[in-house]
Amino acid sequence: MNDAPAPNTLSNSLTPEMMEALWLPFTANRKFKRSPRVFDGAQGMYYTTREGRQILDGMAGLWCVNAGHGQRKIVEAIKAQAEQLDFVSSFSMTHSLAFEFAHAIAQVTPGDLNHVFFANSGSEAVDTALKMARAYHVARGEAGRTRLIGRSRSYHGMGWGGLSVAGMARHRKDFGPLLPEVSHLNHHYVPQKNAFSRGRPAWGAQLANELEQMTVVHDPSTIAAVIVEPVVGSGGVLPPPVGYLERLREICDKYGFLLIFDEVITGFGRLGTAFGSEMLGVTPDIITCAKGMTNAAVPMGGVIVNQKVWDAFTSGPEETIELFHGYTYSAHPLACAAGLATLEVHRDLDLYARTRRAAQRWEEAAHALKGEPHVFDIRNIGLLAAIQLDPRPGAIGTRGAEVNELCYEAGILIRNTVDTLVLSPPLIIEDAEIDRIFDTIRTALKKIA
Ligand SMILES: Cc1ncc(COP(=O)(O)O)c(C=O)c1O
Repeated sequence: MNDAPAPNTLSNSLTPEMMEALWLPFTANRKFKRSPRVFDGAQGMYYTTREGRQILDGMAGLWCVNAGHGQRKIVEAIKAQAEQLDFVSSFSMTHSLAFEFAHAIAQVTPGDLNHVFFANSGSEAVDTALKMARAYHVARGEAGRTRLIGRSRSYHGMGWGGLSVAGMARHRKDFGPLLPEVSHLNHHYVPQKNAFSRGRPAWGAQLANELEQMTVVHDPSTIAAVIVEPVVGSGGVLPPPVGYLERLREICDKYGFLLIFDEVITGFGRLGTAFGSEMLGVTPDIITCAKGMTNAAVPMGGVIVNQKVWDAFTSGPEETIELFHGYTYSAHPLACAAGLATLEVHRDLDLYARTRRAAQRWEEAAHALKGEPHVFDIRNIGLLAAIQLDPRPGAIGTRGAEVNELCYEAGILIRNTVDTLVLSPPLIIEDAEIDRIFDTIRTALKKIA
């Protein structure tokens, strides 16, 4: 007999000891536990809280449940796979779904990005991509190319590599020396020039020339790769200026740098195409992905490389291990099953076309907040948006936090990065839900001081 308590019994009796045992990431744990947000169910666009409230999910979990919660096909695929094969290592062995999922991804990637390496999160994907970039140059006989170039305001996860190339001071501050041989571009957000842009700002392509200027200090033969989010996500939803990514691509080609797009947020439909690179019209050498890849139902990350990168690794003798890198759970069977079902659901729902349609109303509704109290800027692209508020003098972040709380009380889940409200709903969002999100924010803005 199985005498373990049923899950509901457990969650209905949260004791102070249980609360104490959990250390939540990126959270003020002690404050949080005084009035915790606890979600015990989810379906479609909605979470169900422990108290039974329905909360409209304006964040797709954490930029990840792109096809909406509880998609049956995905749930059934995970169940069936758990019955069939719980685990097999990927070190010199694998399972059929790993091939199938890699192939299915290669069908929807831009250009010749056709080779997929599986990791378990965005952070692992980024660290893998950075290691691949250096190893790629070693394989080509240019071992001197070690410098990695990131950008300010970027987020690339929490591994040492991702943190080193990322551009958020507070994230880096407590963790001592990060990777050497890293430089950062400036970000492209210049509100005097591109505030209230709809989609990509018209101004700012020339800011990418900074990459070329870096070669004055760092000889190009020492630079391995440039990594950017094609649309900055956690740093406040910053779409790239028209022409900016194209210019980065040109400079990378001129000097032999690999261009890595971190598509952990923009991958799998967020911009109305399978990958953001397709919508933005610029193809990198390497894409990192995670989140929407499995609809977040099972953790997974991936690194997708083009033929040039693959060829460099596979030019040696056949018996050589090409990359001394990997994870126990690379290509986990449950994740591959969830991922294949996710792509099927995307096709069933014609999700990318649907996202492109919804994005039009989304843009209108977001920009209709212009002129409301405290609104400093509004940005959008695909089904992403940011509403940046003027900080309250002497109390930075309080306006953002108060709007977040008022929205939650009204049944809407949003995020705030300091005083910037960020939104990234499931891509199945309906017009009425779009309106409800922005109307709720409007009401909250009118209420706060
Ligand atoms: C662009 C980007 N890269 C990497 C990551 C890290 O992903 P994970 O939290 O799955 O490690 C994130 C997470 O939000 C992200 O937005």
